[in-house]
Amino acid sequence: MKNNILRVVLVTLVSSCTITLFAQQAPIPQRVETLMQQMTLQEKIGQLNQYNDDWEATGPVTLDPNKAEKVKSGKVGSLLNCNSAARTRHWQELAMQSRLKIPLIFGQDVIHGYKTTFPIPLAEACSWDLEAITRSARIAAAEASAAGIHWTFAPMVDIARDPRWGRVMEGAGEDTWLGSRIAEAQVKGFQGDHPGTPGSLIACAKHYAAYGAAVGGRDYNSVDMSERQLREVYLPPFKAALDAGVGTFMTSFNDIGGFPSTANPFLLRTILKGEWAFRGFVVSDWGSVGEMINHGFAANPAEAAMKAINAGCDMDMESRCYISSLDSLVKAGKVSMDVIDDAVRRILTLKFELGLFDDPYKWCDTEREKKEIGDPAHAEAARDMARKSIVLLKNDNHVLPLSKNLKTIAVIGPLVKLVKENKGFWDVNVPGTDSSFIVSQWEGIKSKVGSQTRLLYAKGCDIGGNRRDGFAEAVKIAREADAVILSIGERRDMTGEAKSRSDITIPGVQEELLKALLETGKPVVVLINTGRPLVFPFTSEKAPAILYTWWLGSEAGNAIADVIFGDYNPSAKLTMTFPRSIGQIPIYYNHFNTGRPAQNDSDRFYRSAYIDLSLYPQYEFGYGLSYTSFTYSNLQIDKKSFKEGESAGVSFVVTNTGSVDGEEIAQLYIRDLVGSVVRPVAELKDFKKIFLKKGESATVHFVIDAEKLSFYRADMTYGPEPGEFDIMIGASSRDVRLRERVVME
Ligand code: NOJ
Repeated sequence: MKNNILRVVLVTLVSSCTITLFAQQAPIPQRVETLMQQMTLQEKIGQLNQYNDDWEATGPVTLDPNKAEKVKSGKVGSLLNCNSAARTRHWQELAMQSRLKIPLIFGQDVIHGYKTTFPIPLAEACSWDLEAITRSARIAAAEASAAGIHWTFAPMVDIARDPRWGRVMEGAGEDTWLGSRIAEAQVKGFQGDHPGTPGSLIACAKHYAAYGAAVGGRDYNSVDMSERQLREVYLPPFKAALDAGVGTFMTSFNDIGGFPSTANPFLLRTILKGEWAFRGFVVSDWGSVGEMINHGFAANPAEAAMKAINAGCDMDMESRCYISSLDSLVKAGKVSMDVIDDAVRRILTLKFELGLFDDPYKWCDTEREKKEIGDPAHAEAARDMARKSIVLLKNDNHVLPLSKNLKTIAVIGPLVKLVKENKGFWDVNVPGTDSSFIVSQWEGIKSKVGSQTRLLYAKGCDIGGNRRDGFAEAVKIAREADAVILSIGERRDMTGEAKSRSDITIPGVQEELLKALLETGKPVVVLINTGRPLVFPFTSEKAPAILYTWWLGSEAGNAIADVIFGDYNPSAKLTMTFPRSIGQIPIYYNHFNTGRPAQNDSDRFYRSAYIDLSLYPQYEFGYGLSYTSFTYSNLQIDKKSFKEGESAGVSFVVTNTGSVDGEEIAQLYIRDLVGSVVRPVAELKDFKKIFLKKGESATVHFVIDAEKLSFYRADMTYGPEPGEFDIMIGASSRDVRLRERVVME
């Protein structure tokens, strides 16, 4: 009897050890299924529920005094906005008290850096430097993951053609092809080789889909577009992110043609999880499940939950509709267990892939947090990225660069001495840090000039409002100076989420201040700080030199000084068209031709624009100057006629004809002359950023293949059509330097 008992105990012990051992070594799908078999419906629903932490909120606050209890009882699968190793450990310890000890996944908007802040994404995009963009995301991931975060709600890959929309700052601009390359670069940077390795974050392609096309540029607004435009213009960056391995998607707030994206089965089931076979999970945007009640698409939280989960939205961020209603919806047969299981499986799979079941505290390491977050190498990378993002819009008579040895420089404007402002919107409040690591423009300029140079400062005016009482002091110091630097623009909270503006001119009396300074006859260099393309015809016309400095992050001051004084030769080019007036919006380079295309501003009948405005924007997509100049010559196409399976090689020579070294972004545009549906007047299909010493030349090569000529044809199949194509090599979308026609037979 005794022996038998011993044998039973031993067998049980051995077999449970074997099961545990086996379970740990089993492939992830098997581990997920084993776990799911043990889960109650309530525990499954808990995995689909995401709450905000108590301190920071990035949406309408919904405090819940029982949050800790909910985590302990397995009713929460994820938290957002808990940003420190200690805080994430605190929550994870509570999750480890739940019956099945399923770890939480921590999400955060790590959009352009964590503590070390990089330029806003739209500015980074203007660098066209994919490696630098990857590095920036990599550093953001290193710092954020050291603070216990697993998952960033980035990249934002929404194509944006309307600068009134406040969120243009978060994306790569207006171009689908470039936006797709940048999306890949960001996903690569955030996720690294494997998301489970320290230093990496799971990325999230957002906001799926067409959020950037909100009518009138008003945030959260409706969208109505053809399936062709959706697939051709708005979806490719999402697909590119997916192909680069992005782990998650976030739905968008808008409806498309009456269907809110959070419950849009065509977007989520047919395209994302069907055609594209996406295996990760989809999170709603903050509250967007519940907000379908406001849309008038659901009568109550239960209906909202039903529509969203059935459409394929796996996790509910902060609306609490899933946790309150899914149980009864399943019991009533309105949501099937298969739908719940599919969502749970996707979320658990990612948690296993992250290694959280093997070590739920893997990222909660305060020592690593201290080491990574203070790393001085990160500041150097941020400075490099920042100067690569500055666009030189104008430089009459080579006003720039300024000499470091000028006797007196007047530095004027409401933004000169601001510190936190340089971070721009979507920065992270890192606990325990102040702003002392952020370099203001004043500090950057001060540490750049020689000890013989006298720097004078006046604020001049506020960013907004109409007070002019500071003008006199500003004019006085300008008169004493050899050159004036004027820093104007928007406040950082004028762009970003829920920050659409109907008037995107430079606020307040800042341009009037510029006028007063120009009247002194001194050379004035204007810095424009903002998160979007602004409209500033007076500055464009009258200022001799303009640097578009966006919001450049924690190294803004140093980067700006590097460019002003010529230690870095600007190389960035715009990735959004800058309108001449607000009435031109939406304006973008890759439009259709219409039946009456104008050739110039004096065409009377052939005019598809306005009689009171030029046809042309202030600054076009792809535009940006350098302190040197480049010529393009000798275009060669090895095959001017080719078949669909073949490709043609394009080459040409770029020469630096100026007096300093510099970088040029040579752009390849293609126009399909006749199609089964009309095609844009030009589409970016490739580019090369090349560094050339003064006087140096280099040959640039591109390949034209079927992919570059493909589009959604009349029958919605994707591919090229035989015919003629214009191959255009440009220094911008308007400044085409070389052109040839090819034929695909
Ligand atoms: C709302 C924003 O639209 C989204 O981009 C962000 O990731 C979430 N809030 C979470 O903060």
